[in-house]
Amino acid sequence: MGKEKIILTGDRPTGRLHIGHFVGSLKRRVELQNSGLYDKIFIFIADAQALTDNIDNPEKVRQNVIEVALDYLACGLDPAKSTIFIQSQIPELCELTFYYMDLVTVSRLQRNPTVKTEIQMRNFETSIPVGFFTYPISQAADITAFKATTVPVGEDQKPMLEQTNEIVRRFNHIYGETLAEPEILLPDNAACLRLPGTDGKAKMSKSLGNCIYLSDSADDIKKRVMSMYTDPGHIRVEDPGKLEGNTVFTYLDAFCRPEHFERYLPDYPNLSELKAHYQRGGLGDMKVKKFLNAIMQEELEPIRNRRKEFEKDIPAIYHMLQEGCLKARETAAATLDEVRKAMKINYFDDIELIEEQAKRFASNK
Ligand code: TRP
Repeated sequence: MGKEKIILTGDRPTGRLHIGHFVGSLKRRVELQNSGLYDKIFIFIADAQALTDNIDNPEKVRQNVIEVALDYLACGLDPAKSTIFIQSQIPELCELTFYYMDLVTVSRLQRNPTVKTEIQMRNFETSIPVGFFTYPISQAADITAFKATTVPVGEDQKPMLEQTNEIVRRFNHIYGETLAEPEILLPDNAACLRLPGTDGKAKMSKSLGNCIYLSDSADDIKKRVMSMYTDPGHIRVEDPGKLEGNTVFTYLDAFCRPEHFERYLPDYPNLSELKAHYQRGGLGDMKVKKFLNAIMQEELEPIRNRRKEFEKDIPAIYHMLQEGCLKARETAAATLDEVRKAMKINYFDDIELIEEQAKRFASNK
């Protein structure tokens, strides 16, 4: 096995991507892509996984495949450097999943904290679809089919990576060194790890209406920022304000860079001074929100504009995805060959096996 550095990651196409996806993973992916430090990069749209809890809503998944692809390109993922593909078009992943299922127990799956929470969130308790329950195994197939060494994802995916590594170790132990153990790559900025919704709630979600999407208009972004949750006890400008749970400051932690002060708020040298003033009292929410809005607009405008360009030629996007699927399939098929060989289910390409068996039966006579 080579010592290649391979990145793989993906997103479920259940909606357009928002700034939580952006700071949590997308931005990093683009940096990694452009760093030149990786031999191969695979980015995929996990439509089959999205169907595990949207089985009666295929149209939603179908519509969002193209939305996610556009968001990827808008953020700077480049098909010349990264293979972008759609999960369902790689049947090899199903076959790998089928074999890995023998390496995982039901109780181990039941202990997966992310699956546990998701089952509760979806009120699946009494009627969990088997496909949903086992998606961590299919995710292990996604990762190992490409021999990924680095998986940049959010914190909620940690249990998936742990299960993947257990499957890899178990497989290699039984069948010999075949698969690679991946490493998770989390955002290094704590605020990016789990960006709250604009209402201060822990998770951004479409149904809560607390997201800023990468494709939102300048007006939408401004409205969301201006109505953001801050410190409810900070009523008059001169009141001391709290930073904990103050969404505006969490967003500043995620997005603000030193040069933003020179450009938009030259009265302050840096974020710690701004925070200190807020805590002392005398700094109004409006001023901080305006600053955040300026930063968000600067960050999101080029993304939105690039998206508009890509939207002009939708057939070209599907073509790019199709090419990506072809390329991805080659890699997955090569891994599957190795897996079949290790598992001793490669009957027809093994001349030795056929000769051996022939001899065995000849001496039986
Ligand atoms: N579970 C991921 C999400 O919800 C999507 C995903 C599927 C994925 N397979 C993966 C991510 C493999 C990283 C690696 O967004």
